[in-house]
Amino acid sequence: MTRRAVIAGIGHYLPERIVENAEFEATLDTSDEWIRSRSGIERRHFAAEGETTSNMATKAAQNALADAGMTADDIDAIVVATSTADLTFPSAATMVQAQLGMTKGFAFDVQAVCAGFVYALSNANALVASGQADKVLVIGAETFSKIMDWTDRSTCVLFGDGAGALVLEAQEGAGTSDDRGILATDLNSDGRFKDLLYVDGGVSTQNTGHLRMQGNQVFRHAVEKLASTAHTSLERAGLGADDVDWIVPHQANIRIIQGTAKKMGLPMDKVVVTVQDHGNTSAASIPLALSVGKARGQIKQGDLIVTEAIGGGLAWGSVVLRW
Ligand code: ACO
Repeated sequence: MTRRAVIAGIGHYLPERIVENAEFEATLDTSDEWIRSRSGIERRHFAAEGETTSNMATKAAQNALADAGMTADDIDAIVVATSTADLTFPSAATMVQAQLGMTKGFAFDVQAVCAGFVYALSNANALVASGQADKVLVIGAETFSKIMDWTDRSTCVLFGDGAGALVLEAQEGAGTSDDRGILATDLNSDGRFKDLLYVDGGVSTQNTGHLRMQGNQVFRHAVEKLASTAHTSLERAGLGADDVDWIVPHQANIRIIQGTAKKMGLPMDKVVVTVQDHGNTSAASIPLALSVGKARGQIKQGDLIVTEAIGGGLAWGSVVLRW
């Protein structure tokens, strides 16, 4: 028998305010047509004044707990993937813990930018597999609207805010690729590529800073690294592309999503796509897409899912799981 981390529930939260591409035409030399054709993005949500990453993470977590039929008291650990925590410290995860009314267990953040949720899921899986926790809330939540340079048309039209959460629960599996739960993970980073995507500020540089990205350079790395990590995870699970029911990719750009599916030899009707409605929500994009994919009736129990993501660092990785 093998201890598996099985998804027991999922939920998400999106801020109320929706910003259509056309809104940017008033202040920037850009167009709905450019944004749509280059990125696939049509609209995104922006957090309200005073609405923070931990507030959104808590709402997504409450929805995931309700879906799992659990309460916060059932949870042993919270892992929040974010690069936009409310405060420098404490972690967003401990703030979620307090907002959920939890007085036991442990909580911490994982920061791997857009690859954050894949990193968080892999770490939460290790906590479950090693017996350190039975039930873990894994959350991706971001307020990237707070680190945009609103005069930089090459970045500010691409990102959005939101949160997604899932509950992992320890279950005994047979140890085969037919088991439900996380079957394999693959994590990578290469810090030599720091200058392709970063925020030009931080605690030790005395300002919050703004996101800076050489988008076309990131693009060049994305398809190959994403297809490669997906292949590695599938191989570790003893599976191949033919076994995949759904790719649930990081939602940064429809052309990257299409290119990766093509490189994996899979058609687009096996890909959950939400980038048109959410923009790039960094670490929140995969749990948002998983939650929306389930709500749409695309993802069903027993489906084999590959998630993959790349972001600042560069950091990238993938998780293969059976729903
Ligand atoms: N409106 C109109 N024109 C624009 C805009 C805009 N909003 N933004 C850029 N342009 C212009 C550029 O100035 C450039 O003009 P020039 O040719 O006169 O110099 C032209 O459009 C082409 O620019 P590129 O950057 O080469 O355009 P590209 O086709 O590469 O698309 C994009 C840009 C959408 C950013 C794409 O490169 C991309 O998606 N990259 C990957 C982003 C990503 O995946 N990031 C990782 C995750 S994010 C994270 O970790 C936080």
